[in-house]
Amino acid sequence: MEKNSRMIKDPAALVAIREGGKKLGEILAECAAMVAPGISTKALDDRAEFLIRQCGGRPAFLGYTISTKDPAYPASLCVSVNEEVVHGIPRVDHIIQDGDVVGLDIGMEWPFTPDGPKGYYTDTAISVIAGTPRAEDEKILAATYESLCRGIKAATVGNEIKDISKAVEKYLTPLGYGIVRDLVGHGVGYAVHEAPQVPNFTDRFQPSIRLLPGMVLALEPMVTIGSADVYTEKDGWTVSTEDHSRSAHFEHTIIISPTGPEIVTLRPGEKI
Ligand code: MF3
Ligand code: CO
Ligand code: CO
Repeated sequence: MEKNSRMIKDPAALVAIREGGKKLGEILAECAAMVAPGISTKALDDRAEFLIRQCGGRPAFLGYTISTKDPAYPASLCVSVNEEVVHGIPRVDHIIQDGDVVGLDIGMEWPFTPDGPKGYYTDTAISVIAGTPRAEDEKILAATYESLCRGIKAATVGNEIKDISKAVEKYLTPLGYGIVRDLVGHGVGYAVHEAPQVPNFTDRFQPSIRLLPGMVLALEPMVTIGSADVYTEKDGWTVSTEDHSRSAHFEHTIIISPTGPEIVTLRPGEKI
């Protein structure tokens, strides 16, 4: 099946995904370390773009369109603050304030050779708190990260996509958090977004898709303190919570392998 075979990446692709993913994890860690009250969201994006190009990659989100009628995404790093869940657009006049919850999401095509063969895509995100944290914000960040870890641990050969969804949902729901349903995790590697979808919740319409060695997935729970309902702002990209409650988002690109999930976008010192 054409579509199925695209889900399984060839060995050369996996080598580049591993290498690009490692670099991307380092870049995201560096950007996250810059988050502090007083910095503009644009300064974070500038640094992300510089680091991506410096390591021989191309910012995968810059100029990206989900559908042809939507505007192209204008930056390299999505910076989503407080009630912004994902796809926040960096701005020079958006200054991070003390206690802000800041989501950073980055994607890279690597290696990038202008006019040459295409590179391979990885995608990763983190949420951090600027300055003085509120206890409830620390809690949602920890819970969202833990839900990602549970999802990753369920991503074993023989399991299905459903089992990832179930593991994330089962952890978050008893804690009373909202799980965003309008956006989901996804296949990645040959493009920013590929089949299959990886929801962070279960429903009876979810198809049965077995996890096979060589599949590359981006797992990315998006979690809210209040209602999980979101809307897209007038800029055409920023996705915010309807009730303006704060949210958190973590994401890793993983390779499904016979020896267990391999996290390619691990940050320096991160252990799961
Ligand atoms: N990083 C998002 C994801 O995790 C996609 C961002 S698309 C952009 O799937 F254009 F907004 F950057
Ligand atoms: Co992402
Ligand atoms: Co993603």
